[in-house]
Amino acid sequence: MDAHDDNGVLGAIGGTPIVRLESLVPDGAAEVWVKIEGANPTGSYKDRMAVSVLTAAVARGDVSPGDTVVEYTGGSTGTSLAFVAAVLGLRFTAVFSDAFSASKQQAMEAFGGEVLVEASHGDGITPELVGRMRERAYALAEQPGHYYADQFGSPDVIAGYASMGEEIGAALGDGIDVFCTGVGTGGALMGTLRGLHGAGLEPQVVALEPAEAPLLTEGVSHGHAVEGVAVFPDPPFLDRGVLDGIRTIGQERAFETCRRLARTEGIFAGGSTGMNVSAAIDLAVELGAGHRVVTIACDHGLKYLGGRIYS
Ligand SMILES: Cc1ncc(COP(=O)(O)O)c(C=O)c1O
Repeated sequence: MDAHDDNGVLGAIGGTPIVRLESLVPDGAAEVWVKIEGANPTGSYKDRMAVSVLTAAVARGDVSPGDTVVEYTGGSTGTSLAFVAAVLGLRFTAVFSDAFSASKQQAMEAFGGEVLVEASHGDGITPELVGRMRERAYALAEQPGHYYADQFGSPDVIAGYASMGEEIGAALGDGIDVFCTGVGTGGALMGTLRGLHGAGLEPQVVALEPAEAPLLTEGVSHGHAVEGVAVFPDPPFLDRGVLDGIRTIGQERAFETCRRLARTEGIFAGGSTGMNVSAAIDLAVELGAGHRVVTIACDHGLKYLGGRIYS
């Protein structure tokens, strides 16, 4: 059986709904369409990346059932990798830290992953901590029977996200004026764009970042709370040549948009989605009626209960 057989649980990755916002978009504005990625098995578009990276590695013979996949992770990517590894008969070890939420550790462990915790000593997420996590993961991956997944470098990351663009193209046809989304590694933006181009669509592309961490526009971060984005001044997968613009959105506005999305549209998502939808609405107002803006609800709001967005 093909490991990515459509009848197996891995076949439940992708094929997510895309919905048009009903009430948050002012009259006279363009349409805003949102791809609901919380509908993936672990509640995140990272499942697309994980299944792409691991099935390609198995197909190349880089890793075989019983071997151990290694990654350093704040938890969302780790949960997707743990899930796909479980289905493919691979072991998974995450290098994690107590600076990230305990529920993400529990989710990785629920899928049978081993979680090694680097101490943050109460200093939060710092470059020093991330460097320590990376070195530990690299050292572990050197051992026989271990494979480094490489979420920040594998070419299979962009390939995995291409399906998002293909699905958007199939659902909406041509007539997408702008595609906007936040950038962490840039994998989701570049992969979705690849899929849109494959479907014959050439929308304008706008990258987004929190106003508190304008890494793309100014190369600085003052610390922010929008999980998953604004990680690198030079995101590993981002080709700035594809961008028509970069916009910043204040994180408090992003979080307020999350709450309004849940209460008025029934879309329950995380902070990066709030940022995406805030920018999409701005763009829709500027473009006016008769146009279409598309963005992504990156992951499910259940991952953020207990955090500052919903409490
Ligand atoms: C919730 C969330 N939003 C957005 C992103 C950014 O995606 P990418 O790294 O593909 O740019 C991530 C990535 O970790 C994420 O977890």
